Amino acid sequence: MAADLNPIDKAKYVAAKRAVDFVEDGMRLGLGTGSTAAWMVRCLGEMVREDGLQVTGVATSTRTAELAREVGITVKTLDEVKWLDLTIDGADEFDPNLNLIKGGGGALLQEKIVATASDQMIVIAEPAKEVTGLGAFPLPVEVIPFGWQTTKALIEEVLVNLDVLGRSTSLRLSGEEPYRTDEGNFIIDLHLKRIANPQQASLVLNQIPGVVENGLFLDICDIIVIGNGDGTVEVRNINDGTVEREKIEILEGDNLFNLS
Ligand code: A5P
Repeated sequence: MAADLNPIDKAKYVAAKRAVDFVEDGMRLGLGTGSTAAWMVRCLGEMVREDGLQVTGVATSTRTAELAREVGITVKTLDEVKWLDLTIDGADEFDPNLNLIKGGGGALLQEKIVATASDQMIVIAEPAKEVTGLGAFPLPVEVIPFGWQTTKALIEEVLVNLDVLGRSTSLRLSGEEPYRTDEGNFIIDLHLKRIANPQQASLVLNQIPGVVENGLFLDICDIIVIGNGDGTVEVRNINDGTVEREKIEILEGDNLFNLS
């Protein structure tokens, strides 16, 4: 039951529940990846099953696509839908301008393509993800497996001229093997500690031939919904500068795990 959640899951759940209030019948939705986004997918599924909401989802990973189908959401490819009304996703870090680091879950490439193909992006997160400047969370960079060690060396070379506090990099592993993204690529995590100029860092990294994309999401997010363990949420809209706070009611009957 949603009412029995621990504070961390409750924070993620209330953020997700508030975010799906922005969803309207008939919308084409980008469905994010990660534990917070999974709550959003379950909330949407509940609206589809119980309220007859009709939406089309474009998933940002195979695991999100599987969950979305499981909860009853119609899932299509981005090529079928082409453009989206709204994407709701989690983040690893957000700054006061709602610039983000994403990709902790390894899905940054599809997440960035989908968010960029959306009229609006809403991020759902807990307060611990808020930073004054991006970079404490390692910046994920998706690279082509071919020549990845050379690409890693080139990344380290460009970091020398970037205004960052740390410059070590590591290949992300899954057990003993390199972690593989949905596209079969590798991820190199950059331990930068603080990125003084994220726009410059993003441009410079993406110019390296073996780099597919980096996890900086700049000027993409419109609204952030921050969930708290006490069931309150804060909704910040970067476009109109508004900040709203409210308490989300968790009903005893909210059962996001009963899919029947
Ligand atoms: C997935 O690749 C990431 O971008 C996630 O959105 C991010 O890691 C947040 O995940 P959690 O909601 O699990 O913290």
